Amino acid sequence: MVKKIVPVFILAILAALCLPGREAVPADSGAEIPAGEKYVALTFDDGPRRATTERLLDGLKERGAKATFFLIGQQVEDNASLVARMAEEGHQIGNHTWSHQRLDGILPDAAAQEVARTEAALEALLGGGEYWLRPPYGQVAEGADFGVPMVKWCVDPRDWESRDAEKVARAVLECVEPGSIVLLHDIYPTSVDAALRVVDRLQEEGYWFVTVEELLWLNGVTPEAGRMYRTGRG
Ligand code: NI
Repeated sequence: MVKKIVPVFILAILAALCLPGREAVPADSGAEIPAGEKYVALTFDDGPRRATTERLLDGLKERGAKATFFLIGQQVEDNASLVARMAEEGHQIGNHTWSHQRLDGILPDAAAQEVARTEAALEALLGGGEYWLRPPYGQVAEGADFGVPMVKWCVDPRDWESRDAEKVARAVLECVEPGSIVLLHDIYPTSVDAALRVVDRLQEEGYWFVTVEELLWLNGVTPEAGRMYRTGRG
């Protein structure tokens, strides 16, 4: 895990050197903390879905923003190039089960299978690695340990419900703070629009968009297998 420290700091240094506008937080943004000290992680569940995820990746790239994608295993093979692009562009890729099963509602063996099958699909495509788990509905059976860190969220704009970009963006902006993990779904065009508005607005306020893993490291938290993380502070 020690090797992960390096990419985070390289990222911070590169971003400080290369990204436009980072050194100049607008005076009227209300940001008192210098740029580079407010970090947030956007997470996207239930994809990939070509029509929407591709546009999101384009938008994130344009803005120099990183995110975390929790993928449904059975959608990986048909979207292999999209998943490979996520990895190439520095996003974190995680596991959202094979078929979006609620893991506390099925037998432990079936739950393990749901996770392992997706892990195998990701390893086949991207190589070995650690694919963190976001359990569907944020739930696992008590004491369940799938051998990787698990990620919940602290900001949930319920984007699947309203499907209204303006409303979703507003809901995120009202609740977000440094260290937040935000839950979105990249299968809705409105959520893609909302996410990009949120990035634009928060970058103006001096926020950096990092992966969940980076967010934890930047907050001095060492990720542990079997633990559920709701914010960057652990
Ligand atoms: Ni889901």
